[in-house]
Amino acid sequence: MECEKELMKKVDVSRLPAHVAIIMDGNGRWAKQKGLCRVEGHRAGVRQVKEVVRFCSDLGIQVLTLYAFSTENWKRPKVEVMAIMSLLRTFLRKEIEELNANRVKLTAIGRLSEMPSPALRELEKCMAMTSQNDGLILNLALNYGGRSDIVDGIKRLAADIQNGKRALQDINEELFSRYLYTSGLPDPELLIRTSGEMRVSNFLLWQISYAEIWVTPVYWPDFGRTHLLEAIIDYQARERRFGDHK
Ligand code: IPE
Ligand code: IPE
Ligand code: MG
Repeated sequence: MECEKELMKKVDVSRLPAHVAIIMDGNGRWAKQKGLCRVEGHRAGVRQVKEVVRFCSDLGIQVLTLYAFSTENWKRPKVEVMAIMSLLRTFLRKEIEELNANRVKLTAIGRLSEMPSPALRELEKCMAMTSQNDGLILNLALNYGGRSDIVDGIKRLAADIQNGKRALQDINEELFSRYLYTSGLPDPELLIRTSGEMRVSNFLLWQISYAEIWVTPVYWPDFGRTHLLEAIIDYQARERRFGDHK
């Protein structure tokens, strides 16, 4: 693989994807391959989160959405779930200062009210502390599912119709988008999945309708700046089509 400096020369910084979304997969396999327990894989994954956030912030990406915990991930053994929640809390507590120093604004999508309260409290604190920042939006998908995003959006919209705030004939794609967790954010232009799986795993189903997809066999704890640059270079070389033809 080329070095970061060489790759950087190939990136057109004036045409960066505004919104990059990442399915951070492969922590467990990374750990297994090294003879470690799965939690060690998640711990190593957090290191890469810090690295990638810093890099996106330096590059000038507007939004980075990271799939950190899905609505399906509760099915995992309780110890693993608890370890992930504890790592999340520690990450938020330790990183808040650096996030603030880099003007990163932390947001989150998902059924947040169902998150364990210690993690939720830390999350809410960090979101409040960074809410005025104008740099990278770091958007964490937590207890997130694309289907529950849509269902919750429908419920809120239906409630607004019931209370007279909206009329049935007002509903269109643009209006409905405003009822999703991602309201106000541009749709992801680049969707990255690590560890080689060719599936979406219930991530941002509505929002990725025209995202460019880039899958790498690299496990998340090995994913770094050079891989992100490779993804962006590949994205920039593609002809983006939206169903039309030139
Ligand atoms: C991704 O890594 C992290 C989360 C889903 C929380 P995995 O834990 O899914 O790792 P693999 O897919 O088993 O290797
Ligand atoms: C997707 O990874 C969810 C996150 C990265 C948080 P999973 O490991 O849960 O997805 P599947 O089971 O491979 O589809
Ligand atoms: Mg996985």
